[in-house]
Amino acid sequence: MSIRIRNLAKVYRMGTEEVHALRGVDLDIGDNEFVAIMGASGSGKSTLMNIVGCLDRPTSGTYELGDIRVEKMSATKLASVRNREIGFVFQSFELLGRATALKNVMLPMLYSAQWWGARKRAKDALASVGLAERMGHKPNQLSGGQKQRVAIARALVNKPRILLADEPTGALDSKTSEDIMALFRELHNKGQTVILVTHEEDIAGYANRIIRLRDGRIVSDYPTDKDPVHQDYIQRALEHAQRMADDNAQTQSKSAASLAAVSASLAGGAS
Ligand SMILES: Nc1ncnc2c1ncn2[C@@H]1O[C@H](COP(=O)(O)OP(=O)(O)O)[C@@H](O)[C@H]1O
Ligand SMILES: [Mg+2]
Repeated sequence: MSIRIRNLAKVYRMGTEEVHALRGVDLDIGDNEFVAIMGASGSGKSTLMNIVGCLDRPTSGTYELGDIRVEKMSATKLASVRNREIGFVFQSFELLGRATALKNVMLPMLYSAQWWGARKRAKDALASVGLAERMGHKPNQLSGGQKQRVAIARALVNKPRILLADEPTGALDSKTSEDIMALFRELHNKGQTVILVTHEEDIAGYANRIIRLRDGRIVSDYPTDKDPVHQDYIQRALEHAQRMADDNAQTQSKSAASLAAVSASLAGGAS
């Protein structure tokens, strides 16, 4: 289900003030892409995600999702497209604290015509994110990474064609972030379209394409391996790792030398 956006603008009105959050965005995303959207805070990433995810409507411009014209839909129609086609993952997980993992994952099906078999489907979704053993646990009995897995299972349970994730690793340590990104990659490899917002270059590196926003406009759009900013980042990370390795080797050869000196003087003292 492809995304086709033309000249999209979003203006927030706050009293007499206008905030131009998006200023003429053109964007095509095809089936089974894995895209990272990057940009400084306030550049319009969440606004774009909310429109792509049918949570909000643009002020002007067009948005076609497959053959659906989204930009003029009523709120009710928008909600039904959203429930059918889009899965959301957020930085803060947004789980119900008093419900088990299983209940949290069953929730989206409450609002769709799929309650029949909901339990089985929720269990399958939890198993697919590696949480088969944790279905009866409540959020406060789960680690951050496990909570995000529950949220991903919930996002997937209605089999949406597009998975949207807004800073999904923003609240996780770097090892857990890698695990969660590996899971997104796996989902992408199985055919899922994934669109992810992040401001971390190493997280964006998991995607196949990087779109950069500045002040409500797209300023670059490249495959990850052709993105000059990303490649520069990788280069510097490699150089840094090399320097660390060199320093380490130097420290080690120094300590080997002083060890040799110590044992030589010990040997000398003994003779
Ligand atoms: N509901 C809102 N009302 C008014 N201004 C908003 C609202 N949401 C976002 N903005 C403004 O729109 C701009 C883009 O915000 P946002 O899309 O959240 O950026 P990002 O996700 O890249 O940080 C910012 O200037 C922000 O303050
Ligand atoms: Mg944001």
